[in-house]
Amino acid sequence: MNVNKYTAVALKAACAAGEIIKNNFNSPVEIRFKGEIDPVTNVDIKAQETILKILEVAFPGHSFLTEEDSSHRCSSDYCWIIDPMDGTVNFIHRIPYVCVSIALMHKGKIISGVVHAPMLCETYSAQAGGGAWVNKKRIHVSPERTLVRSLAITGFPYSVHASAKRHAGIMAGVLEKVQGVRRLGSAAIDLAYVASGKAEAFWEEELKPWDVAAGSLILKEAGGKITDFSGGKNFIFGGTMLATNGILHRSMLELLGGNK
Ligand code: IPD
Ligand code: CA
Ligand code: CA
Repeated sequence: MNVNKYTAVALKAACAAGEIIKNNFNSPVEIRFKGEIDPVTNVDIKAQETILKILEVAFPGHSFLTEEDSSHRCSSDYCWIIDPMDGTVNFIHRIPYVCVSIALMHKGKIISGVVHAPMLCETYSAQAGGGAWVNKKRIHVSPERTLVRSLAITGFPYSVHASAKRHAGIMAGVLEKVQGVRRLGSAAIDLAYVASGKAEAFWEEELKPWDVAAGSLILKEAGGKITDFSGGKNFIFGGTMLATNGILHRSMLELLGGNK
């Protein structure tokens, strides 16, 4: 595992934020709602401040796109895309499926990605052209060729109250074909799970760049395929995303498209 300066600092920042998450995991937290069911806690904010401090010192001149600070924009060639805590609803309910997601985009291309899940003791990482890793072990997508032996993961946006029946309809179409469907609650880990062959597919709508950026590189470097629902490249900013082991991509696209 050959780590460049960008990934080294991203790993340092993710681990520092991960410590904050871990240290607060069973403590009472302050919760504020950004929408009816869309929470942010004081721990998300503290994790974000910690990450930004480390990245800003290491890379003055880079820009930042981060979930809990809407004033940030990608305004330079190098832009860090950050989710200080992915899985906040899990965190609030003390379900340990939470992570820190940090990606570096250079001129529109993701070149480094880290997904650090402190409660699972798993750190997924990738650099463009350098393979994908969990801790220091190489990972690959699953070789499964059939839907009926495949595990699919999905998630629902915070706007789900207004579209629950449509999402349930799409999920029903997939459920009829696969071995099982899971809703785990952290899009970045969901992507890492497809990358490491634990699941064969993950789809979701209305994800944000900080949910997808790091995991998308990890998935690609592990041999997987990621597109939007029309099979195109607009999966980071476009609002629909399908990630698979590659072999099942076309079949999954058909299932998702057939239910829209
Ligand atoms: C959420 C998680 C969840 C997904 C939501 C995301 P957050 O991110 O990734 O799995 O279904 O769409 O918004 O709010 O925990 O950072
Ligand atoms: Ca998120
Ligand atoms: Ca978040």
